[in-house]
Order: sequence, then C-alpha cells, then structure tokens
Amino acid sequence: MADAASEETLDNLLREDREFPPDPAFTAQAVGTADLYDQADADRETFWADQARERLTWSTDFTQTLDWSEAPFAKWYADGRLNAAYNCVDRHVEAGHGDRVALHFVGEPGDTRDITYAELLDQVKRAANVLLESGVSKGDRVAIYLPMVPEAVVAMLACARIGAPHSVVFGGFSADALRSRIADAEAKVVITADGGFRRGKPSGLKPAVDEAVADSPSVLKVLVVKRTEQDVAWNDDKDVWWHEALEAASAEHTAEPMEAEHPLFILYTSGTTGKPKGILHTTGGYLTQAAYTNAVVHDVHPESDVYWCSADVGWVTGHTYIVYGPLANGATQVLYEGTPDTPHQGRWWEIIEKYKVSIFYTAPTAIRTCMKWGKDIPEKFDLSSLRVLGSVGEPINPEAWVWYRQVIGGGKTPVVDTWWQTETGAIMISALPGVTALKPGSAQIAVPGISVDVVDEQGNSVDNGHGGYLIIDKPWPSMLRGIWGDPERFKETYWSRFEGIYFAGDGAKKDEQGNIWVLGRVDDVMNVSGHRLSTTEIESALVSHPKVAEAAVVGATDATTGQAVCAFVILRGDAVQEADEPGEGEDLVAELRNHVAKEIGAIAKPRQILVVAELPKTRSGKIMRRLLRDVAENREVGDVTTLADSSVMDLIQQGLAKPA
Ligand code: WT7
Repeated sequence: MADAASEETLDNLLREDREFPPDPAFTAQAVGTADLYDQADADRETFWADQARERLTWSTDFTQTLDWSEAPFAKWYADGRLNAAYNCVDRHVEAGHGDRVALHFVGEPGDTRDITYAELLDQVKRAANVLLESGVSKGDRVAIYLPMVPEAVVAMLACARIGAPHSVVFGGFSADALRSRIADAEAKVVITADGGFRRGKPSGLKPAVDEAVADSPSVLKVLVVKRTEQDVAWNDDKDVWWHEALEAASAEHTAEPMEAEHPLFILYTSGTTGKPKGILHTTGGYLTQAAYTNAVVHDVHPESDVYWCSADVGWVTGHTYIVYGPLANGATQVLYEGTPDTPHQGRWWEIIEKYKVSIFYTAPTAIRTCMKWGKDIPEKFDLSSLRVLGSVGEPINPEAWVWYRQVIGGGKTPVVDTWWQTETGAIMISALPGVTALKPGSAQIAVPGISVDVVDEQGNSVDNGHGGYLIIDKPWPSMLRGIWGDPERFKETYWSRFEGIYFAGDGAKKDEQGNIWVLGRVDDVMNVSGHRLSTTEIESALVSHPKVAEAAVVGATDATTGQAVCAFVILRGDAVQEADEPGEGEDLVAELRNHVAKEIGAIAKPRQILVVAELPKTRSGKIMRRLLRDVAENREVGDVTTLADSSVMDLIQQGLAKPA
C-alpha cells in the first residue's frame, strides 16, 4: 500500500526519538487524567454514558447508551432528549455566565466585536424565529454559505435550536459546488452574506448564491448578512436582509428538546468518486464527544482560558472545535475572519497577544508557512499566555512540531497532534496534555473511550513496528450516521474493506511503543493544506472543459501544503495545435486552472498542469497515478511493467523536457 516515498519519510520519522514528558505543574491542573483510560477500558459504554451525563444537560435522560443492533447504523443515547443550542448557550446564561464573552470577533479590516453568552442567546433565539417564519420546520435543511463572522455561529445554532439540520458550505466553494449541495440536501433556506473580507479586500458571496439559487427549486428564502456593504442584486421574492429580519423577530424562543438521534448537520466531503458525500451527524452522541474531547484534549478551563481554533466553520474542525465543543463547554474564544498575513505576517500573533489566547489549535500547513516567514515575526509578540497548542488536518512533521513548541509555545507548552475526520465527528487519536509523554510527529494513541488499530490486508492487527491500514473497531458516539440519502454508499465506502470494521482511508504505522504514525490517504483522496480533495472530482472538472479530452490528477508532496494538486491532461485535436503556438500553452494552463476554480473552488486549482500526449494505463484501463506522482515529484519513475504500453512514460518525460 504505502508507496516508496512515504515509506522513506516514515523511516525518517520513526528515527525520531525525542520525547517530552508532561510538566507536573500542568498535570496538577489538567482536565484529562490517566485514570480516564482505566475507566474506559473497564466499561466503555458506562464511560460514554457518564461523559454524556456529566458534560451535557438532557431534558430526558436515556436508558440505553448504545444500540448497535443495526450495525453499521449506530444509535447512541436513543431515548434521551436534548437541544444542542440549549446546551451551547442557554444553560450557561441560566448558570449565571451571561456576561462571559463567548466570541471575541476580529474582522480582517480590524473591526472587533465581543459577544457575550447573553447576547449570543438573544441572537440565536431571534434567528430561530426568523427561520420558522421563513417556512423552515423541524427536519428541513438549511444551507449556510458565510464568511467567518459571528452570524455563522448564530446561524448554525439557530438551526440546531429548531431541529433543522444545517449544511455549511465553505465560502471558498464555487456557485456550482453550492448548487449541487443545495440540491442534494433539498435545502429550503440559504443563509449568506453580501461578502467577506479576505486578503485586504471585500470578496463577494451573494453573486454565487444568486447563480446557485436560480436553479434551486427547493429554496424559499435567502437570508443575507450585511458584512462588506458591496452592492448586491436583489430578488424581492426571496432575499431578506438578516439584520432587518432579526430586529423584527421576537426575542422569545424556547428550545425544543430533540431526540438524541435527530440529525444535527450534514457536511459534504470529498470521497474517491466525483460526487461529494453528505456526511450525517446527529445530536446527542456528536455533542458528547465534541464537548469531551475539547475539554480533555485542549484542556479547556472555561472560566479562565481564551481558546482559538483557526479553522473555518465551513470544515468539520470549525463545526466541532469552534461551534459545538467549546460552546457546549462554555468557553471564551477568538473568531478571526481573515488570513494570517493580512495586513502583516504577524497578524495571528498580534491577536494572541491582544486577547491573551491560552489555547491555540491550527493546521501543520499554517505552521510550516509561519516557519518559512521566520521566527523573528512571532518573536515580536508576547505569546506567554499560550499554554496548550494543537495540530490537525495532516501529519505534522517533527521539525514543524518542535518549531511550534519552541517558537510559539515558548519551549514549554504541550503540542497535541489530533487525528480525526469529517466522518468521525471529533478527535479520535491524540495525546492528552498533562498525561502523555509527547512524541513529535506521532498522533500517538486513541483518546480514552476510543478503540483504533492498524491492520494488514486481511484485517489482522499488526505488531508494533509494522504498518498497514488505520481502522476503528468499536462504535463511537460522534461517528457519522450515514451518507445523506445513500445508505448503500455508506456501507460500501466505510464498512466493506474489513467486515464490520470502519476503515478510515488512511495508512499508518505503529512504533515500538504502540504509538500511531499516520501516513496519509491510501485512496484517491488528496490532502492539500489540510483540505480534502478528490482526484476524481478535479479530473471531472478538467474533462468538462471543451479543450480537454482526458485528465489524471495526483497529489504530489509539497513542503508547505503537504500535498499539491498536479494534473496531467490530454487535449482534444484542435486544442493541441493551438497550444503549440508560441505563448499559447501558458494561456491554456491558466484557463484550465481557472476552470477548475469555477467548477469546484479556488482551493482545488492545480499547482501544475502538464499537457501530455498519453496517460499511463494498465491493461484494464486504470490510470497508474503512482507513476504520475513520480513525475510530479521529480523522482525516477518506478516499475512500469504493468502498463499496457510501457513507452508512455518515456513520451511523458520527453514532452516535459521540451522547452515551453
Ligand atoms: C483526513 C480527514 C480532522 C479535521 C480536518 C480534516 C487527514 C487529519 C490528521 C493528523 C495525519 C490527518 C487524514 C484524514 N488527517 N488529521 N493529525 N495526522 N493525518 O478532516 O477533511 O475529513 O480529512 O485528514 O488523512 O483521513 P477531513
């Protein structure tokens, strides 16, 4: 499975023997404790029942913790009832914490807003009433396409409050991507904004919504947040200003308890086929594991910490570790709209200094970018408030881990590398700060209550020191409950490789101590800057361009973004001649890159597009991406004996050697 390149990286990694034992002073105050492992091992279900009751407020207690009788469709806490928004907001106000800041919002242009839990409650109640007035009832879906503004959090919680599953679509996705997600979930309402601020300028969102909604018969209303004050086209039948509607709405709303298995949200993610999968999460189990992991892995003390997760709410990290986990725990957090280098490369560190952020959770790609900018930038700021650092989204190389701890964490903070997925809903593998001796580069071990393993082709557990497939062999509370509208695809995608066992799609190795080192995907899924992209989806986008006959896409190792999208395309007859004209080749490449951005979104733009005469295929017609990856990574091309025509690789390489 793992190819030569990743084997080599891994061997280097496994020579990594630095270890950072917990500081006793940290351990003395840590939320997570070593005996959580014993409790969970003694009786997993009782452990999860305790977590659910300890961390959440239920309006009806449950009598059965797990029902696995219809596996792989799990039911957790099924006869219990609770409301996720009540748990994230109301109960903190009722407990006397209404004046606590929930969100320190920092807009990219420098505007700021502090929103207390009492203010958040007022907004969520009004927004819930607006949704009800717009024709949304319990069970109806709402699409959310917003920049990183407090209204995104309010919108998600308002949906949860009335039991309308939200489908958040990342603001960087195109009109086409939004349209297909609206259609798949048959969303009744879209919540958007005129635009958001990105890299120093307003960037419009409403035009993409207008384009998508024109072809979306399910959409009754579009609620529009005013953020950038850009001019927007207006459809009087459907469009409603968010601020006007909220102001006019009643501030009274009682949260209705939902069944624990009531759908909370759908979040689309890339799979190995062209069509994104709507990953379904439900209420009780998801919220339990979100709150629990945020508490024990990030070591959140809500009364004293300032927490910041730099993800976008459009990804699962934003769902679980901006909205549901920290708010269920009553934490105070920073919400930042923009990019780390606007208007200067110290923007993040300036925010940490200003708000005395104590817990920071980000992605390896961001850390590597900051390393590239140099340590003198963070060193200009007082980062001494930081006491826990976290990493998520892709493997973090030991150099980046050590830099993160030294330069950002002042050489003293624990750094937790957390492995999980959109499908798992919450953190599955991570060290516990204050408990685990930390090994840079390894996600280490399953959190208490979770059972993972590395297995061989036959599904047998491998010994320490060996590699294989990363699997999860016991159901967990925040597990996906299915793929929206496609139960067969759910079983087939996750539960068929190894009978009755969840296969995550990642390769991994266990070291001599049993620590897990995640290698990356073993399927046709790429990880670019922690964003999941499907090779097939980008290939379909390329082939939908009139000049492209065939396309193959691979993820090539990239020092900053982890992987980068590299495309190989075969042009149609007329286009070939055109591309041969002087200077035309570059134009064509630019045109194709923009086409991918239009079809999927700017994040999917290939770093490189190589025009080739042939693609390497096996006799059964399967593209051998392994060989293309060798080319993209400037390596000697591997074994070509299974190719239908072994001269193809020579042709590709000769073509590339030709001056442009
Ligand atoms: C894929 C899931 C989890 C939220 C962000 C991504 C990779 C994630 C790690 C990590 C190594 C990681 C895996 C996984 N991944 N975290 N700590 N170490 N790899 O969620 O978009 O669903 O992607 O991201 O390959 O399968 P996602």
